[in-house]
Amino acid sequence: MHETKLKTGRFLLKSPVEEDDFDEITEIKSDPKVYLTQLYGKITSREYCRFMFQHYITDAKISPVRRKRWVFGIYPIETSSEFPKQKYIGNVGISKNSLSSETAHLFFEVSPNYWGLGVATECISKVKEFAFEQGIKRIVADPIHGNEASKKVLTKLGFHDTGRSVPAYTGSLKHVYVFPKPKAAEKFNK
Ligand SMILES: CC(C)(COP(=O)(O)OP(=O)(O)OC[C@H]1O[C@@H](n2cnc3c(N)ncnc32)[C@H](O)[C@@H]1OP(=O)(O)O)[C@@H](O)C(=O)NCCC(=O)NCCS
Repeated sequence: MHETKLKTGRFLLKSPVEEDDFDEITEIKSDPKVYLTQLYGKITSREYCRFMFQHYITDAKISPVRRKRWVFGIYPIETSSEFPKQKYIGNVGISKNSLSSETAHLFFEVSPNYWGLGVATECISKVKEFAFEQGIKRIVADPIHGNEASKKVLTKLGFHDTGRSVPAYTGSLKHVYVFPKPKAAEKFNK
């Protein structure tokens, strides 16, 4: 297992997640406030969640030089009134389509119990740094239309709104954001 740990001011970001985290992961992914903004659909049981997201653990078995995806669990470093437990509260991930790709796709989710506390902004900022250290040159995120919280986070982190929309396989439209802003002459293809 190749464990990767990153630290922000308040959070430990750890890949892989722990087997025990699937209780919290299932709770978060079965909350309509979360799954309605995502494309994986409703996750109703721990077993189904473990089956669908086994890569949260198994990706770390791949050698770092052959790895295309990292999903970091988010864990508060210290307990406080805002974060009473040092348990999994969400994740931030990056994924490339191929080993040689210089573009990564960004995805993230935070337990609704902790929304509005700057968790996503702080953790994505760190994972963005990590991605560039891995040789990534461009990060793409594509919140579905109407996901204003996600758009706000991306804007705060300097992502550029391309103005493009692309359909997801579910039929929803996704709004394409990219970091850094492409140069005028650079053709941007997702
Ligand atoms: C998007 C998400 C990760 C944000 O997590 P978070 O930890 O609450 O994010 P932050 O606290 O860092 O920042 C949220 C920002 O959005 C703002 N916001 C929240 N809801 C909003 C809304 N409906 N309209 C506009 N802004 C909104 C907050 O005020 C905050 O901005 P501020 O710091 O300027 O006040 C969280 O809402 C989530 O998990 N949503 C479901 C999954 C999801 O959408 N994932 C992203 C898929 S692309």
